[in-house]
Amino acid sequence: MPKLVFVLPDGTETGVDARTGDSVMITATQNGLDGVVAECGGNLSCATCHVWVRDDFLDAVGPPGEMEDDMMDLATSDRRTGSRLSCQIIVSEELDGLTVEIPREQP
Ligand code: FES
Repeated sequence: MPKLVFVLPDGTETGVDARTGDSVMITATQNGLDGVVAECGGNLSCATCHVWVRDDFLDAVGPPGEMEDDMMDLATSDRRTGSRLSCQIIVSEELDGLTVEIPREQP
């Protein structure tokens, strides 16, 4: 079972077990982590699940899709190299140890 690490807005790191096939967003919300709001429930229409993927996992996670990229352009205030919408990152064994930072504010 892959483990994900979330860096909360206050800098605290929390490791949680994740199920393959779930999204990173679902993993965060099911574990009650603050900061991943996910207003649209994973339908790629809110951008309130924005996270920053740590550099060492950028290749494994891959780039955002076109619609995700457009959504972040429109709605994400602090976009960075590792910006992704966590509902669009699907957990796999290859992502064991994936570390993402949760922004202090969601759009
Ligand atoms: Fe709305 Fe990800 S939960 S875009």
